[in-house]
Amino acid sequence: MAPLLRRLTVRNTHGLMTTPLRFPSRYVAKSTRFLSTTSTLHFAVTSALRTQVFHDVDPLRKYRRDLLLSKRTVGLVPTMGALHEGHLSLVRQAAAENTDVFVTVYVNPTQFGLNEDLASYPKTWEADMAMLSTLDKELASAGAGRVSAVFAPSTKTMYPTLPPDSSIPGAGSFVEIRPLGQLLEGASRPVFFRGVATVCMKLFNICAPDRVYFGQKDIQQTVVIRRLVKDFHLDTEVRIGPTQRQEDGLALSSRNVYLGTRRRTVGLVLSQALRKAEAQYKAGKRRRGDILWPANAHADNLVQEQDGLEPGKRARFEVDYLSLADPDTMEEVEEVDETRGAILSGAVKMLSLEEPADGEELGVGGGQILVRLLDNIVLDPVA
Ligand code: PAJ
Repeated sequence: MAPLLRRLTVRNTHGLMTTPLRFPSRYVAKSTRFLSTTSTLHFAVTSALRTQVFHDVDPLRKYRRDLLLSKRTVGLVPTMGALHEGHLSLVRQAAAENTDVFVTVYVNPTQFGLNEDLASYPKTWEADMAMLSTLDKELASAGAGRVSAVFAPSTKTMYPTLPPDSSIPGAGSFVEIRPLGQLLEGASRPVFFRGVATVCMKLFNICAPDRVYFGQKDIQQTVVIRRLVKDFHLDTEVRIGPTQRQEDGLALSSRNVYLGTRRRTVGLVLSQALRKAEAQYKAGKRRRGDILWPANAHADNLVQEQDGLEPGKRARFEVDYLSLADPDTMEEVEEVDETRGAILSGAVKMLSLEEPADGEELGVGGGQILVRLLDNIVLDPVA
């Protein structure tokens, strides 16, 4: 049953007011002291909720300005919600390096192509807020920076003039990073990096962060963001956090909830293939063919193996790319320059299950939602 939601206005420990937010009743502690009784409930902050939630630009800007005047620093962690340990690790890193962390939760429509999964993208607002609240308490006892603000804007706020357009060429104000944003992920998802660069530019302008935090999991995104900051002289520092994985190597992702057990097991092919290529580099190989062949062979073998199984047993997939690229341009390289290193990355499309087996755990969407898996390994320069 959906939790009962209440409309609340919150005062935090600094005595600053938030804009109203919707929050499930279970976060309203019994000790809540009511400040006024209107149709909107107002209550003093309890230990259950300290983080302020903003939906609008102006109050967030004012809040940020006050922090600046108090000589505090802000680390920004942009997310699309559906939070997991990958996101939380970035918040921890931001809290270790700043007095205040802003987390943005916004599923940005312009980075989804017209035929992509915008409508089905997981939305878990209450669970996200609960995770951030728990983490904030952990940070408080560790003496680290705190999760001061969550910015969860509406699309009208983020795209104030024209409705967001995911078509090509598209109407609206966009930031494009070419050709970087057209390679690899951008080749398969032509509007993706235009949407990412545009929304990040907006978020950086709104939040004015000292530092911004992105996960290595989406490595091309980190390269795009670095370029955005460099080319537009944005006054912020880009920090990259390591990829968080499950024990068997699968990189955490908000979309993993769609996989189900069968596709999840077969989906390990990507991290396995990349590790085989990495081993070649570590063994001293520098030429493209020498590094990539075991990765390609592993993926090809598994494609054939799965195709050969009965529909009720197999999880079919397609390899979109396995890449060995320059760390700054993401252009494919024939040979790794040891002084620069390289990026090994890949994308695999897990196709819909053809035939569910009895009692099988199918994941959200019954195994019918196509899942794109991404992963990468950085090949460090040799000192
Ligand atoms: P989202 O997929 O929600 O990811 C938010 C941030 O978490 C990104 O920087 C992403 O790289 C990082 N992240 C995701 N999985 C991770 C993992 N397993 N380990 C470490 N970090 C991980 O990426 C986006 O949202 C959007 O494109 C966004 C930048 C918010 C723009 O809309």
